[in-house]
Amino acid sequence: MTTTLQLSEKTLADIARNIAKYPPEQKQSAVMAALIAAQTEIGWVSPEVIETIANILEMPTIAVDEVATFYNMYDTKLVGKYKLVICTNLPCQLTHGETAATHLKETLGIGFNETTPCGTFTLKEGECMGACGDSPVMLVNNKHMCSFMSNEKIDALLNDLRAEGKSA
Ligand code: FES
Repeated sequence: MTTTLQLSEKTLADIARNIAKYPPEQKQSAVMAALIAAQTEIGWVSPEVIETIANILEMPTIAVDEVATFYNMYDTKLVGKYKLVICTNLPCQLTHGETAATHLKETLGIGFNETTPCGTFTLKEGECMGACGDSPVMLVNNKHMCSFMSNEKIDALLNDLRAEGKSA
């Protein structure tokens, strides 16, 4: 049986704030926000995170697991410090998306769903981010959208993130 985690006060408060948005009998509606809050603290959605959220929301563990494995913003495996998601859907593919994906793979020396040996970067394919006209587009750690990512801009971004990672 999977054990649960003791989440921080901040994370629990965040989850409670989201639960309060719904009627008490529908607190399960806060599952997506709760998973994000826990992932932000723990770094990924581990089996323990899923069990913990299920307990808090009084949901079957399998129901939380289904949500966590359906949406690609949840990391159900450990990822690097920076998760880079590049859109590989057709509109982006037709506008240099493939070039950017190839450049990322070659520069980082990894394929999709892999993490650099140093643990700094994880590369993933993403679905349409609603910014097809800005292709190639990338999302960093689920929050920071990067548009028109030429190879030069990708190199600059990677350098910035490496520097940020070292100084953190
Ligand atoms: S297809 Fe890439 S953002 Fe829409």
